[in-house]
Amino acid sequence: MKETITLRAAAKINLCLDIVGRRADGYHLLRSVMQTVSLCDTVTVTRRETGISVRCNAHGVPNGAENIAHTAVETFLKATGIPGGAEVLLEKQIPVQAGLGGGSADGAAVLRALNTLCGMPLTSRQLSELGAGIGADVPFCLCGGTVLCEGVGEQITPLPPMPDCFVVLCKPEIGVSTPEAFAAVDRADFCSARSCDGVVEAVRCGDLIALGRHLSNDFYLALRPLQTAEIMALMSAFSPLGAGLSGSGPTVFGLFDDGKAAERCADHLRRQYGQVWVTRPVGRPD
Ligand code: C5P
Repeated sequence: MKETITLRAAAKINLCLDIVGRRADGYHLLRSVMQTVSLCDTVTVTRRETGISVRCNAHGVPNGAENIAHTAVETFLKATGIPGGAEVLLEKQIPVQAGLGGGSADGAAVLRALNTLCGMPLTSRQLSELGAGIGADVPFCLCGGTVLCEGVGEQITPLPPMPDCFVVLCKPEIGVSTPEAFAAVDRADFCSARSCDGVVEAVRCGDLIALGRHLSNDFYLALRPLQTAEIMALMSAFSPLGAGLSGSGPTVFGLFDDGKAAERCADHLRRQYGQVWVTRPVGRPD
C-alpha cells in the first residue's frame, strides 16, 4: 500500500456571502457561493506507525496540535478506528487570516489524503460530515469547484462551474480573525441584504458579466474592513467585471475576462501591496 501522498489544497473566494441567522451555539447561518481558485498549498501526508506531526514552511502557522491538519488526522483516525499515526508537511502559498480558506483547504486535503492512503474507508458523505466538525469551510473544500453553501457551511449544493476568467487577489498586510469579524457584525446589529440569488442565477446561466455585477458580501457591507475600499477603487481603474471581499476579509478579489487587464491591474496593485496574485477558477479536486 502507498505510504505517502501529495495533494494540492486550493484557496477559495466567496462570490457572495449572506449572513442570514445565528444558531444557539453562536455559529452563524450563511448563504454563500464559494469558488476554488488556482492559488494553492501543497499538502504531503505520510502514514507513520505512531504519533501525529505537522510541519509547515510558513511563519505564523502553528506546527503542532493547534494546526487544523493535526485535528484532521486525529479526527480521521478516531472515526475510522485505524491504528497508527501520520506526518503532514504543509507548503503554504495561501496567506493566513486572509478570508481565502487556507486552513480549511489544508484540513480537507489531509482528510482526502488519509482516506486514499487507508483504502477509502469513508464515503465522500462521511468525509464531509467529519470535515464539518473540523471547520465550517471544510465540507466545501472537500467538494471544490462552484458550490452554494448553506447552514454553517455543511449544506453543499454543487453548481455548474463558473465561467472561466481571471481572478486578481490582493491581500493587505492586516489579518482578520473570523470569530472577531462575526462578533463585529453582531455588534453592528446588521441586517442582511440577502443578495446571493443574483449570483446563483448568473452562475446557472454561465453569465460572467451578470456574475460580476452581483458580487456581494455582508462582511463588507457591515464592516467596510480597513483598506478594502481602497483596493476596490484601485482595481476599478482596470475595469474589472466586478470586485468583492472574500470571506471575512481582508482579501479583495476582482474578476476579469481579459488576462492582460488582470496582469496590468495586479502590477499596479503590487506597487502598494505585497501579496497580489492573478489566479483562475478551478474545479473539483482530482
Ligand atoms: O469553523 P471555523 O473554525 O472555520 O470557525 C471559526 C469561528 O468563526 C467559529 O468559532 C465561530 O466563532 C465563527 N463562525 C461563525 N459562523 C460560521 C463559521 C464560523 O460564527 N458559519
